[in-house]
Amino acid sequence: MALPALGLDPWSLLGLFLFQLLLLLLPTTTTGSSGQDPVPRVKYYAGDGRRVLSLFHQKNLRDFDTLLLSGDGDTLYVGAREAILALNIQDPGVPKLKNMISWPASDRKKSDCVFKRKSNETECFNFIRVLVSFNATHLYACGTFAFSPACTFIEHQNSYLKPILEDKVMEGKGQSPFDPAHKHTAVFVDGMLYSGTMNNFLGSEPILIRTLGPQPVLKTDNFLRWLQRKNLSPTQHRPGPLPPSPGDLAIPSAPISMGPENDVGGEKVLQKKWTTFLKAPLLCAQPGQLPFNVIRHAVLLPVCPGPEMSGVSRAWQISGTRSSAVCAFSLKDINRVFEGKYKALNKETSRWTTHEVPDDISPRPGSCSVSPSSDKALTFMKDHFLMDEQVVGTPLLVKSGVEYTQLAVETAQGLDGHSYLVMYLGTTTGSLHKAVVSRDSRAYLVEEIQLFPDLEPVRNLLLAPTQGALFAGFSGGVVRVPRANCSVYESCVDCVLARDPHCAWDPESGICRLLPASIPKSWRQDMEKGNPEWACVNGPRGRSFRPKSRPQIIKEVLAIPNSILELPCPRLSALASYHWSHGTATVLGASSMVFNGSLLLLLQDGVGGLYQCWATENGFSYPVVSYWVDSQGQPRALDPELAGIPRERVEDSLTMFGGGAALAAQRSYWPHFLTITVLLALVLSGALILLLLSRLGALRARGKVQGCGALPPGEKAPLSREQHLQLPKECRTSASDVDADSNHLGTEVA
Ligand SMILES: *[C@@H]1O[C@H](CO)[C@@H](O)[C@H](O)[C@H]1NC(C)=O
Ligand SMILES: *[C@@H]1O[C@H](CO)[C@@H](O)[C@H](O)[C@H]1NC(C)=O
Ligand SMILES: *[C@@H]1O[C@H](CO)[C@@H](O)[C@H](O)[C@H]1NC(C)=O
Ligand SMILES: *[C@@H]1O[C@H](CO)[C@@H](O)[C@H](O)[C@H]1NC(C)=O
Repeated sequence: MALPALGLDPWSLLGLFLFQLLLLLLPTTTTGSSGQDPVPRVKYYAGDGRRVLSLFHQKNLRDFDTLLLSGDGDTLYVGAREAILALNIQDPGVPKLKNMISWPASDRKKSDCVFKRKSNETECFNFIRVLVSFNATHLYACGTFAFSPACTFIEHQNSYLKPILEDKVMEGKGQSPFDPAHKHTAVFVDGMLYSGTMNNFLGSEPILIRTLGPQPVLKTDNFLRWLQRKNLSPTQHRPGPLPPSPGDLAIPSAPISMGPENDVGGEKVLQKKWTTFLKAPLLCAQPGQLPFNVIRHAVLLPVCPGPEMSGVSRAWQISGTRSSAVCAFSLKDINRVFEGKYKALNKETSRWTTHEVPDDISPRPGSCSVSPSSDKALTFMKDHFLMDEQVVGTPLLVKSGVEYTQLAVETAQGLDGHSYLVMYLGTTTGSLHKAVVSRDSRAYLVEEIQLFPDLEPVRNLLLAPTQGALFAGFSGGVVRVPRANCSVYESCVDCVLARDPHCAWDPESGICRLLPASIPKSWRQDMEKGNPEWACVNGPRGRSFRPKSRPQIIKEVLAIPNSILELPCPRLSALASYHWSHGTATVLGASSMVFNGSLLLLLQDGVGGLYQCWATENGFSYPVVSYWVDSQGQPRALDPELAGIPRERVEDSLTMFGGGAALAAQRSYWPHFLTITVLLALVLSGALILLLLSRLGALRARGKVQGCGALPPGEKAPLSREQHLQLPKECRTSASDVDADSNHLGTEVA
């Protein structure tokens, strides 16, 4: 196919086709990841003040499923249930409602919908599925319209939406699904809308269709079953324990397909049908592992440093836990596969055979020629739409225990001048992972942010680069997430260890800052190694060894003798290991113990001096917090080594139990009292943690159910009755992220 000649646009179609086709695949099982599961360095729970999110919501509005950015990047259009909104996102903080128009399904369609036994509370509405910018004055929108897909143009002036007139609403079959739970995708290129979804009420007829614009409407031929999974190639990596289900062949990889724009359909054969439809399997696997095989979302990289396309795919592990992968496929490889041999099913022998391009057919079947291809070529095409070779991708990120639903990517230039790929990944449980791909094509997770209070799926993610923010749509609203909050990294060491390309240390102000367009030379960052020794201690030039890093501040505690002192140690990084030291000793004495990260100190004779909590990360140790403990009775002289370090007085709020005179008299009982108290605290906290964990487990399970993931056979549903009762409602209202595929496995394994 003459792809380069077509420019970039046809590649946008990849997203469309990828997304659509995968829905037809049977998921195969896969084994777990190969040990190197990245852990988010920092985790923020919903409402954490260190990562302030701004939530836009509106009374009586739900299902903020579709997001579109205006051309100037200042307005966010949102398709919610039965409404379309224009939000002003120019200022940081909560998006402001500019205006809103309603687009409900008509009463007649609603009553038809109810008559067809669909729910009047969760399904018989107009769920917006397509929202694109048609031209300078009009948007184009499609919705499910109570199981009767409809589309319309929406006029706007300075991003103010004009009301939709009922007579301007058109039929939208093939552009929007009937059922809000069905998958769909749409790309608007060169005035034409390419959409992929289910073309009927039952959701049994997949379709790729090209509409709008001057060219004829073009569809995939349903009779030829190009999109049906029965037509896919036999598996080469079929996992052992799975019995094949009758009549279905599963492939471990996901196919992609494409049709260039100048396809006008055939004359006799394939009239008004794609004549350039081809598809090729995508393979995404770690070496020695079973491949990932369900694509959830695919994006085209804005700039192309290396692999040009990424897709999120999700796989199901045999054990029943989920894992996800992000894979990059290069356009060059895709090109090569589409120029290779074809594969076809021999109907007599029911075997797959490989076919060369017939010599007498020119141009090549499936290629984009200006005029319609010959009938001979089209007849060949009808059975030879599957490429023989697979497109092999690079797994950038493989994460177990997480199911990604959405992906947004951008590149960020680090201080070293290199462009780093930054991926934002939404999960089925409402959290966001910020992942950065290092130069060796491996991603690490900078942070995890819980976006919503409930564990529900992220329905849509949209980057607004000029606003420096990401918008996430979910059932209850739209959340604005700033790209980064560099101020959470309070020291140079922390700032460098974070390896966030958006943040660097400014030594002059002593603050970890967001990288501006032009970066001052003195700023520090080490994206490649995350080595604070180099970036913070010795500077980028000298790499000489310096054994210990000095604390930035010392907290002075004046403690009452014979009391128990609690010295907390904030643990920011999940990648660090923490330990306490006393003076020069790394081993603590008998009168102290570490509990929940804090140091508990019984203030007896001889106790006092310097206590430091150390973090060791990436081979570098540094004091997170340093305390100088002075007993009231016996003040100690400050270590001369610590001279010059600023000091801060901490009031004795850290003292857990005051030591009264009576207790002081019974000093010998103190160690026993301490032991018993601490043991009691441990037992109580243990019980509390167990209780919390079990509650959390129940919540998680509910989160799973909301994503409609069927529990694998044998796994008991940890749900109470009431939670079960909520299931149908939640499943029906959730949008594209509902994973219909997950049900297949359950039946297949069973
Ligand atoms: C960034 O982090 C700092 C320090 O934790 C916090 O005070 C501030 O509110 C945060 N800002 C945002 C926008 O999250
Ligand atoms: C749905 O229908 C039921 C019975 O037909 C009715 O009681 C209920 O109010 C309806 N709900 C809505 C939201 O219209
Ligand atoms: C945009 O498209 C609409 C719908 O086809 C049309 O009515 C309108 O004139 C177009 N506007 C411009 C500026 O081309
Ligand atoms: C453990 O420490 C964290 C913060 O340091 C605190 O929020 C939490 O309550 C502590 N847990 C227990 C059981 O003490």
